[in-house]
Amino acid sequence: VNRQKMVDLLKQMTLEEKIAQLLQLAAPFYDGADSDGVITGPMKELGITEDTVRQAGSALGLAGAEKIKHIQQTHLKNNRLGIPLLFMADIIHGFKTIFPIPLAIGCSWDLELAEKSAEVAAKEAAVSGVHVTFAPMVDLVRDPRWGRVMESTGEDPYLNSMFARAFVRGFQGDDLTNDVHRVAACVKHFAAYGLAEGGRDYNTVDLSERQLREYYLPAYKAALDEGCEMVMTSFNTVDSIPATANRKLMRNLLRDEWGFDGVLISDWAAIKELIPHGVAANEEEAAYKAIQAGVDIEMMTSTYVHHMPDLIASGKVDEALIDEAVLRVLLLKEKLGLFDNPLRGADPEVEREVVFSQEHRSISREMAAKSCVLLKNEGGVLPLQRSSRIALIGPFAKNNDILGNWSWTGVKDDAVRLDQALSAKISDSLVAIAEGSSIELMTEEQYSEALSAAEQADVIVLALGEHSDMSGEGGCRADIKLPQAQLELIARLKQLDKPIVAVLFNGRPLDLHGVYDQVDGLLEAWYPGSEGGAAIAELLYGDVNPSGRLTMSFPYSVGQVPVYYNQFNTGRPHDPKDVDARYVSRYLDAPNAPLLPFGYGLSYTSFVYGELVLSEDIMTVERPLHVEVMVTNTGERSGEEVVQLYVRDIAGDVVRPLKELKHFAKISLEPGESRRVTFTITEEDLRYHHADLQFTSDPGEFAVFVGSNSRDVMERRFHFVQ
Ligand code: IFM
Repeated sequence: VNRQKMVDLLKQMTLEEKIAQLLQLAAPFYDGADSDGVITGPMKELGITEDTVRQAGSALGLAGAEKIKHIQQTHLKNNRLGIPLLFMADIIHGFKTIFPIPLAIGCSWDLELAEKSAEVAAKEAAVSGVHVTFAPMVDLVRDPRWGRVMESTGEDPYLNSMFARAFVRGFQGDDLTNDVHRVAACVKHFAAYGLAEGGRDYNTVDLSERQLREYYLPAYKAALDEGCEMVMTSFNTVDSIPATANRKLMRNLLRDEWGFDGVLISDWAAIKELIPHGVAANEEEAAYKAIQAGVDIEMMTSTYVHHMPDLIASGKVDEALIDEAVLRVLLLKEKLGLFDNPLRGADPEVEREVVFSQEHRSISREMAAKSCVLLKNEGGVLPLQRSSRIALIGPFAKNNDILGNWSWTGVKDDAVRLDQALSAKISDSLVAIAEGSSIELMTEEQYSEALSAAEQADVIVLALGEHSDMSGEGGCRADIKLPQAQLELIARLKQLDKPIVAVLFNGRPLDLHGVYDQVDGLLEAWYPGSEGGAAIAELLYGDVNPSGRLTMSFPYSVGQVPVYYNQFNTGRPHDPKDVDARYVSRYLDAPNAPLLPFGYGLSYTSFVYGELVLSEDIMTVERPLHVEVMVTNTGERSGEEVVQLYVRDIAGDVVRPLKELKHFAKISLEPGESRRVTFTITEEDLRYHHADLQFTSDPGEFAVFVGSNSRDVMERRFHFVQ
């Protein structure tokens, strides 16, 4: 990157031009933008002139090679210094080839394929003219009421960090300047947005600095360690200060402590929202606080444009702050090669060839098959027999709303629906299809159609779920059961006394009362993306063996939320066998444990774990501990198992969780095959934030657990000696 060239360019810019570089405008501001992108915030008059629009540094939510070529060329004609526009967009789980939602991708525990999915998304976006994606979203999530859990890979800091790195590698590759088929990544939402109180979007976040550092920060840091170019602020407060005005978080931690020198962008309107938050009396104060905190780009409000000139003239803001911010934006443009090649990857011909190609779709299909989680399989109801007559019933039987939220360029009509995939797999005479109910309503007519389909069938396959707007940004729910109409549908069909398999399409862990207890087989398909129906059909018929494992606990009931595996023991832990216990940490009307724990998922085959063998009882810094276990596929099909290793520090300087995921191995075994899996625990694995926030380990006793999920494990103890 030619830094000097950018420094020289900066010197030629007027103050107005500099401030406009820090403004990001949405699609409707651009002539020739034939769609609006995804509008998730206010679109009110920004009170800016045509000239400011021409000078603005970046645009959001535009894609399409022809369109972007046109807008960039027009922009360059109008821009005095010929500074190209940066095009940013939310490419969250695919561009046109839509992958499963990130929460589902998490459940694949497949980092390589996750990286590939980001690479595919980057390529499709880049040839369509996008330069930066607002991804990965790595907020740690423990509250399924929050609609945005669908964008995260789950509740574990270690796993989220691994996925954060994989996504960044996939989006950015290793040479952003020359590889025009990659895009810059923007990790978000900094910080701790996943902890919004009550699971309500944009809501207050308050947590100790230790919690922040221990659980919430690692994934953002991992993305930055992988070279992620940008960071987005979060909407929430952290310690009573909105992230967008939070100097401690942005300047002290992100910039000074972590050394991040890339572009920091606000979320949509987040600078102006400092006013309703109640930390700025007016726009001028909002602009002042955001720039002091270190926010470079203002997304979709114009407080910088309107107030920065006066703030500088009055000496309240040092122009050097603006120069720093603008230089960072220019350097990113230079790194993306935009000064030499302002159209970069945008190429209508390549776009036609690459976008939604067969190759990309088959990668999406592989990911969809790997990210579905088999939650129940009573009596081996699955896989289905090819000769069985099935009734496919439910609001998702013929529904193409399976891409999930944040798939704005994806085309629902292009998605493979479940009915289409099943009809392609088995003869028409074996499948009867009926809607049974809509997502939130059931009419008697719908039900009687379902009933006649079901009466002819050997097995009822229910396709149920939430419509995609019931999750995602602004998609929070206080009740996380399936809508009543669908629970009613299950209850009525249950009367027929036929085997029932349910497939769920949803963006969050649900309260499964009325589902889990009623059905024989249950497959969590999440929103599986463009090839969803095809992948599910393969799983239902056993062409592919389910291998997904939950990365977010399914609560027993919403009253337990937040419920997560890496919780503390408390001073009065409850032994579930003691049903009458009173003065212990428990609910009277629900278990403490979730219905389905982190790491859980079934297979059509069975895996047996041998004895857990530790290389020694005492571990030192020089002599790490090797943990071995033999895993055997004792069933009749080949399958994949995720062998998980957890650690507990028995007595720490501060309380340590009951279990923490430290390693895992995804292995594939043929029937009868055994594999020895070896993990190495090093001193680094034992570090945590102490009372003084130092990140170190200390000697003492530890438990190590290995198993197929966070609940069903074998345990051994060892000592760490320093
Ligand atoms: O990137 C998103 C962010 O996650 C939520 N608010 C809007 C942004 C831009 O679309």
